[in-house]
Amino acid sequence: MILVAGSANLDFVVQVQHIPAPGETVLGRNLAFFPGGKGANQAIACARAGGATTEMLLALGDDWFADPIEDSLSKAGVWMHRVILPKSRTGAAFISVSDDAENAITVAPGANSGLSADDLPALGGFTHLLLQLETPLDVVTEYARVAQEQGVKVVLNAAPAQNLPPELVAVIDVLIVNEGELALVADHDGDVASCLDRVEIPCVITTLGSRGCCAKTGDNIIVQPGFTVQAVDTTAAGDTFCGVLVAALNQKQPLETALKRANAAGALACTRLGAQSSIPNRADVELLLQDDAPGDNTRAEALRAYCGFLPKSRPGD
Ligand code: RIB
Repeated sequence: MILVAGSANLDFVVQVQHIPAPGETVLGRNLAFFPGGKGANQAIACARAGGATTEMLLALGDDWFADPIEDSLSKAGVWMHRVILPKSRTGAAFISVSDDAENAITVAPGANSGLSADDLPALGGFTHLLLQLETPLDVVTEYARVAQEQGVKVVLNAAPAQNLPPELVAVIDVLIVNEGELALVADHDGDVASCLDRVEIPCVITTLGSRGCCAKTGDNIIVQPGFTVQAVDTTAAGDTFCGVLVAALNQKQPLETALKRANAAGALACTRLGAQSSIPNRADVELLLQDDAPGDNTRAEALRAYCGFLPKSRPGD
């Protein structure tokens, strides 16, 4: 059983030709609303992956923003531990999505900032706790500490990027980051390999956009090339990756298989507009896994080289 503790937002999305630069105004297309938030997206991805009971601890305001979020989570089969904060607004995110599928996101955390250490439900029966950084860092740290004490595996997606306190780093079993987040956690701006060498967490997984992902567990390195899709909107691709990965780990799949499945689901999430609206179900992921063969040696070798995992050649070699 998986517990996701984290944020839920209502996403206000506008498609634009390009993301506005500071000080620039751009005319976009129609406004659309989607249930989102990194925590809720990851809970939905876990649930749609199938095979694992998923529950979520979330904080909501007493407003209509909460309705589509609750509806989406319950339709996906996620059991909710709700904290309702009547004086707060439900979290909201303002998202511009460009014609080349990139996005820029500003979050107004609202009720997400009101989640407290006392809100954590009893952890009996849970195997994994999945956390992100859109709720207060001291609360995330406390949840992780309690989970680790009770033998629940702690998985942290360190997004949005923040420095991690040592007491949090000490209790993480699996860290999932993109390249920018990895550089911040490692406090280093070298290649992926050199950043990974500086992070003392048993398993660190780095997502590398369309290139794929890599994982380091002790001295063992796994690279998993990405799947090729026609991207429309990359929002929630990382969240989808995290949720599907944890669902696969919960089912005791080998890390290599879990990474491939998470890559496939993350790629599919890029093919549709919106956050939770884009998260694929198990059947869609199975289809892509059958159709596409991203694991060929050339692409894996290119990914190894990109990350800096190939031995450096010496002059004269
Ligand atoms: O990771 C995507 C999510 O980030 C969006 O759904 C938005 O709500 C922000 O939390």
